[in-house]
Amino acid sequence: MSDITKSKSWRALAAQGAEMKNRHLNDLFRADPDRFAKFSIEMQDILFDYSKNLVTEQTIDGLLDLAREVDVEAWRARMFSGAQVNMTEDRAVLHVALRNRSNEPILVDGADVMPQIKAELAAMKSFVERVRGGDWRGYSGKRITDVVSIGIGGSHLGPQMVTEALKGSKNNPMRVHYISNVDGTQIADVLRPLNPEQVLFVISSKTFTTYETLTNMRTAMNWLVASSFDQSVLDKHFVAVTARPENAEKEGFPAENIFQIWDWVGGRFSLWSAIGLPIALYLGFDSFEELLDGAHDMDQHFQNAPLGENAPVMLALVGVWNSTFLEAQTQAILPYDQSLHMFSAYMQQAEMESNGKSVNWDGADVPYQTGAIIWGQLGINGQHAFYQYLHQGKNIVPCDFIGSIESNTPVKGHHEYLMANFFAQTQALMIGIDEEEVRAELRRKGKSERYIERLVSHKIHKGNRPTNTLLLSRISPRTLGSLIALYEHKIFVQGIIWQVCSFDQWGVELGKQLAMNIQGELAPKAATGPHDSSTTGLIDYFKQQRDT
Ligand code: F6P
Repeated sequence: MSDITKSKSWRALAAQGAEMKNRHLNDLFRADPDRFAKFSIEMQDILFDYSKNLVTEQTIDGLLDLAREVDVEAWRARMFSGAQVNMTEDRAVLHVALRNRSNEPILVDGADVMPQIKAELAAMKSFVERVRGGDWRGYSGKRITDVVSIGIGGSHLGPQMVTEALKGSKNNPMRVHYISNVDGTQIADVLRPLNPEQVLFVISSKTFTTYETLTNMRTAMNWLVASSFDQSVLDKHFVAVTARPENAEKEGFPAENIFQIWDWVGGRFSLWSAIGLPIALYLGFDSFEELLDGAHDMDQHFQNAPLGENAPVMLALVGVWNSTFLEAQTQAILPYDQSLHMFSAYMQQAEMESNGKSVNWDGADVPYQTGAIIWGQLGINGQHAFYQYLHQGKNIVPCDFIGSIESNTPVKGHHEYLMANFFAQTQALMIGIDEEEVRAELRRKGKSERYIERLVSHKIHKGNRPTNTLLLSRISPRTLGSLIALYEHKIFVQGIIWQVCSFDQWGVELGKQLAMNIQGELAPKAATGPHDSSTTGLIDYFKQQRDT
């Protein structure tokens, strides 16, 4: 593997990065009135404007050279063709096959995976129709009214984010609830108001070994059996989604209650598979298919648009520019549509579990910054919380602003005010306000010179804070599918440029292993350790306080 930092394009970008840190976006916009037209892309009901980034045409050319140098197009072709692009786990990465709406085959180890995907979609459809249509009923013969999804991480965040985003769009006869935390408070809260006779539990776990999920599942099973006094009723109320059906069968699930996913479906990219069953149960199968259609639209765009007009590629390149060459350590995702209130949390897992890596494909430490710390929440709420930092804090935080042209729930006057803020914030972050303007404004307000002198430096905003803007027609299953796929491909392209293994997550293992050992030590009268003095001290203190 060649050292990417020695490549011509990398060195040119590094030199440019040092120079661009001294430029101001205001000057770039003054010098080029066509920036918006040049640095924006419209595709599938989404407009992507990256003009408010500290880039020039030369920067974009350099970033595209870098993309060509690492051969993003060949890697993209490899992923879509089912090659083992998950290098450390020797697996294909085929979330794109799950939403392949064409009749093109996709081969893994020489076998077309499309027939099994279609068969599983058909099984999901029939199940969803039986449950929603009242054909599948609970043990007492009552209709299912509540779906409870039990899973964690990639087996939970996607379905919950999507159902939260689309819940306003239908007059829904079904309710959906999510349990991920092993803290008993959550399961107790979710189950308390439910009637066990009308609940369907979907246990989602790729491995079917995840402790949090299995613990919550057993508690839910006990709750149901306690209400019915009959172990045999579980089959009417529990289905499993997993890539390890044998593990689900060991837990008592009959084969016909198990929906299958496969090794090549990564957890954080799995909502398109049967892991999306809670989405389909809640919204109906048609909406689930529209979600797949939207993602497929984006897959087509990603595969076919030239690199410079390719939204996922440009979103990735601008992110690389900000993280690696301008050394911004974090990246905020700020939706201005209430429907997307979980989008930042979802993207946090997708991006940070994928590109939060510090060794390259060869296992060597990388000398540059890779995936940013992803954070954020609804932008309008953020304005009254952390935007102070975005405007005047010491660190530059590149932000993605995501908004919709049409609200799904129009309430007179609300959307205009929301969107006025959406546009104003990216503008304010860019233009800032300088000393002269601050003084003039305070004078206009009749303030004394003494007062102005005291306040002026506190009111200056230097501006020059980079933002992307994503404007969707409205949040629908189709546009949401496209939006999620846009970010998924961004993650993929960035991983190729940084030469990190985007599809493993070894970093989550050590903590899990240590927890398994410590769990035994927390039993009454069990010995603690040996550990470092801090961990032993904390565990002993916990046990002493608990047991006295
Ligand atoms: O947090 C680590 C992780 O392995 C995620 O990648 C995964 O989505 C999650 O745990 C849940 O795993 P499973 O689907 O096997 O229960």
